[in-house]
Amino acid sequence: MLLNYPSRFEAYGSVEIYELSRIHTLLSMGISPRPGAYSIPSLKQFEDTASKTVFIVPVKNEDPFVVEGVLRAIPYYSQVILVSNSQREPLNMYKVELDIARTIFKNTGRTIIVLHQKDKVLADNLAPHLPSIIGEDSLVKDGKGEGMLIGAIIADALGAENIAFVDADNYIPSVVLEYALIYYTALSMSESKYKMVRIYWGYKAWMSTDELYYRRMGRVSSIVNGLFNKVLSYRRKVETDIIKTSNSGEHAMSMDLAREIVYGGGFSVETQELVSILEKCYLGVDRGLCPSLHGGIEIYQIESLSPHIHAEKGEAHVLEMIFESASALYHSEIAEERGKSFILKTLGDLGFSRDPVQISRYEYPKIDARKLMDTVLTESSLSTGFGV
Ligand code: GDD
Repeated sequence: MLLNYPSRFEAYGSVEIYELSRIHTLLSMGISPRPGAYSIPSLKQFEDTASKTVFIVPVKNEDPFVVEGVLRAIPYYSQVILVSNSQREPLNMYKVELDIARTIFKNTGRTIIVLHQKDKVLADNLAPHLPSIIGEDSLVKDGKGEGMLIGAIIADALGAENIAFVDADNYIPSVVLEYALIYYTALSMSESKYKMVRIYWGYKAWMSTDELYYRRMGRVSSIVNGLFNKVLSYRRKVETDIIKTSNSGEHAMSMDLAREIVYGGGFSVETQELVSILEKCYLGVDRGLCPSLHGGIEIYQIESLSPHIHAEKGEAHVLEMIFESASALYHSEIAEERGKSFILKTLGDLGFSRDPVQISRYEYPKIDARKLMDTVLTESSLSTGFGV
């Protein structure tokens, strides 16, 4: 992929947030790019980055046909972890997901780990290290963020250098391939040990409407990006519009960075990632909270060529995602009084009468990830590793 090298970045402490970059050409291996553009120099380096990147796919009751397309579109070189919170009765959707993974493994021999978020062995072995993720039923709580964190720990166990997230409700499989090319290219372009790549969907559209209408920005992102930029502007006293990917479900990062992040529960997770990076490495520098102080953190935002076509889950779902992300921002150290008032006003204008809630926040646990994975895969009758 030939990527435009971003023209500028804004620095917040040791965090560099890069302006949006665009794709010039989807495939360009081995070319000598002109100055200002980047392409992975060789097939060898491409394979190297891809094989060190583990994909994590959170899933909850998605159409199996769509899930299968997503899994098959992830390049062969990368290992895959499916973290499912799908129902097991009356219809056992989880069994269908397991069977899809097994079939792909039998056809290809590639590694796919399938975990169920409500696996008792997983919960029992995670609980001593991360008690706050366990709910009243003694199992891991529901939530996309919770599923992503489990995926990150298992990727760590596999020795991942980078982790990459894709939602399971991507309707066009080849778009997932494009996301993978974006991740590999930007991860290999970055010179930092602590790096993140967030995808800005060129256009967004969803299924189940009579027409396919390409929106320039998703409904959640258009609100939450605005809130994030305003809060950051007030905090720094310099107006900014640098944040374009506050809610990017499609993103990747180095494992070194993943271990430093404080994960948000549910749909606050993508916003909370940025919040926690800024809390530690912008506001927390003087308090010694930033481990990557000298290397710096690089955050890239890349605009995809293809539109993002996903399942439509209704207006209430969209509002809930906005609320959870806004809550993460509201209760963050980044938001000072003016920022908080702006968030409250925006939520009020959207019809919310409740105050932002304190979202669940999970530090990456100090845990022997390999031991956790081995225990779960050997003792559990629910979670399985194909090719591990
Ligand atoms: N493991 C797990 N556990 N996965 C979950 C859970 C859960 O409790 N809840 C949802 N998922 C999965 C879904 O099956 C899907 O693959 C992915 O997480 C995203 O969930 P959706 O419910 O489909 O979200 P969306 O497509 O409406 O929203 C996406 O875009 C938003 C920005 O517009 C998500 O990526 C959001 O996180 C993002 O903020």
